[in-house]
Amino acid sequence: MLAPVKSHSEMNEPSSRKLIIAIDGPAGAGKSTIASRLARKLGYVNLESGAMYRALALKAIENDISFDDETALDNLAHKTKIMLEPTIGGNRVLLDGRDVTQRVRETDVSEGASRVSVHPKVREWMVARQRELGVDGGVVMEGRDIGTKVFPDADVKVFLDADPVIREQRRLKQYSRTLSAESMAAELRERDRRDRTRANSPLEPAKDAVVLDSTALSEDEVLNRVEELAQKKLLRV
Ligand code: DC
Repeated sequence: MLAPVKSHSEMNEPSSRKLIIAIDGPAGAGKSTIASRLARKLGYVNLESGAMYRALALKAIENDISFDDETALDNLAHKTKIMLEPTIGGNRVLLDGRDVTQRVRETDVSEGASRVSVHPKVREWMVARQRELGVDGGVVMEGRDIGTKVFPDADVKVFLDADPVIREQRRLKQYSRTLSAESMAAELRERDRRDRTRANSPLEPAKDAVVLDSTALSEDEVLNRVEELAQKKLLRV
């Protein structure tokens, strides 16, 4: 059957529709920076889904709950309120109303976030919250499973990757005051391995994602490519 013919104006006029843009990829690939800059350009909000796993991991640490205890983590999640407030420098993270933005970036929480995220019940709770946040569109959501699980019908799906050595160097620039190069690299490699090999929603590109390797690209080049994909959707071409 033939598709209905679009009028000239239909093809070229920007749509007022608010898109859901999914940016997935491993740590250090540049997702947060691109998501935040793109959201600003489009007048959208950027949501760092990883910050929600981090907030739950922090609450587990504070309540002496093991990262391996799925039932206890699930119960804890159901008693928890996590809010993400987009700012120019990234998301402000509120855990039960308390600002934990800085704390959730520390190493123990990074490891904890990766460990709590292997549990199906924890993921189920997170995915439901993330869908609530993004359902109306006008959102750039970044994480590991946004294009595969949270919004499998997202308008734009990008899988942003980069050579592991480059990712380690980028991370080191961000956090050089708190960690040595060796421990930073080890932490990143272990988290990568866990995120990619977990049974439930492992980190992998959605079948219809555009895979972008940012190893040899500048931040502006990556941003332009992702913005181009969004503009195409808005112009319906
Ligand atoms: O993006 P981040 O580094 O803040 O994520 C921290 C951890 O949370 C990451 O190692 C795996 C987990 N995570 C996930 O499983 N699914 C997401 N959508 C986002 C993060």
